Amino acid sequence: MNRHSCPQAAHPRRVTVIGAGYVGLTASVCFAALGHRVTCVEHNPHQLRRLLAGEVPIHEPGVAELLADGVGGGRVGFTGDAGEAVPGSAVAVLCVGTPARPDGHPDLRQIASAAAEVAAAATGDLVIVVKSTVPPGSCEAIEVIAAESAPAGVRVTVVSNPEFLRESQAVDDFFNPDRVVIGSEDGPAGDLVASLYPATWPLLRCDRRSSELIKYASNTFLALKISFANEISGLCEQAGVGAGSVLAGVGADRRIGSSFLAHGPGFGGSCLGKDLTGLIATADALGSPAPVARAAAEVNRWARGRVIDRLEAIAGPVTGQRIALLGLAFKPGTDDVRDSPAVSIAEGLLARGAHVSAFDPIASEPKLGGIECRDAYAAARGAAAVIFATGWPEFGLLDLARLSGAMSGHLLFDLVGVVDAPAAAAVGLELETLGRGTPTSFHPVVVPPLEWCLDVAIA
Ligand code: UGA
Repeated sequence: MNRHSCPQAAHPRRVTVIGAGYVGLTASVCFAALGHRVTCVEHNPHQLRRLLAGEVPIHEPGVAELLADGVGGGRVGFTGDAGEAVPGSAVAVLCVGTPARPDGHPDLRQIASAAAEVAAAATGDLVIVVKSTVPPGSCEAIEVIAAESAPAGVRVTVVSNPEFLRESQAVDDFFNPDRVVIGSEDGPAGDLVASLYPATWPLLRCDRRSSELIKYASNTFLALKISFANEISGLCEQAGVGAGSVLAGVGADRRIGSSFLAHGPGFGGSCLGKDLTGLIATADALGSPAPVARAAAEVNRWARGRVIDRLEAIAGPVTGQRIALLGLAFKPGTDDVRDSPAVSIAEGLLARGAHVSAFDPIASEPKLGGIECRDAYAAARGAAAVIFATGWPEFGLLDLARLSGAMSGHLLFDLVGVVDAPAAAAVGLELETLGRGTPTSFHPVVVPPLEWCLDVAIA
């Protein structure tokens, strides 16, 4: 994708973006590709130096090409000072973090200070666009904070425009949106934000609270779909069937759909878990019950916890055993380890006294204390078991005979469905997966329905 193969916004504008993380940097280069002139403000001096040198500090396919294109065409620039970027900009797009506090409530301090900063730098009326995920009511609160910082005579209007892109396919998601949600009670401000996008894109206009809640509810629904898949996966184990085929059959119903129905070690990353607890905190604050969201969070805790319990049920206590972990990223295609199930499995193994070695193609987690190896075979050396914890496609291409030769044991525990079962069997490796029970047992699976058929208790 470059400027020439990309649809153009009807009105090229000057845009300030605050924050050069996954969302901010992707938005910056994609807005530039749509024809806007973007100045991205990044306060972290190390990140800023890299960006000014033309480096991309995140792993996100397509961003480097768009960045080179945008910088080359004079449509993307970086600064550490909002005062340099905001004057002359039509909009300031806030893409800063809204992490969860330890109690699960959203921490909105970064977005509040970003809003105050751009408002203080405004030399004329300014529209602040909130792309960060925030609870309903936040844009109205941010508008109050921004108004206090704005110079006399400058009107600041806040519009909600949540981002729905996924890490590892962020550019593709930006250019192929299912919907672009624009929440504003101020018609002209909403129109201005709409004009940042090509007129042919599916725009969904609404009020700000609805827009904010659309993002929260969307991530919550994705989380509960995954938790539902994991709950069914656990049930499949007990019922002696395979979750893969059960969930494929469920997802084949177009009303349900197969996406986000993959079972595994639970969802991770910086968004789903945070937004789930944010929605619960919002519901609590407003006195509205949220039992479904709570259950999704509870099942996710269980999905993570079951991995080591299951491993110990198969291979005995992990204490003193060498276990190899393949994958550290929270999902394939990214170097992001925030709230990664793989990392929490590593931590759980270390806490139980296992000797853990790990390998990930691009992600790294220094806080695990130097357990990382140069490749999968090195990680597997002397291991009683190898856990496949992130679904990198390249793990499916490993030479299993070589892997087996490096190991001391012969157990592969595939949490993410990358290992070819016949290939593992061919080299004498035992393959365990999640969501697969033993299909032979009559009791106890068949007894309950038999009772319910006969309506009598069976001894
Ligand atoms: C998520 C949403 O998908 C985006 O729409 C949203 O914009 C983004 O959060 C955000 O709020 O910024 P992301 O966190 O990048 O995107 O990752 P996902 O692709 O949603 O995956 C989240 C987690 O769910 C990963 O750990 C993944 O392995 C897991 N997952 C996903 C499953 O366990 N099963 C599935 O079927 C799908």
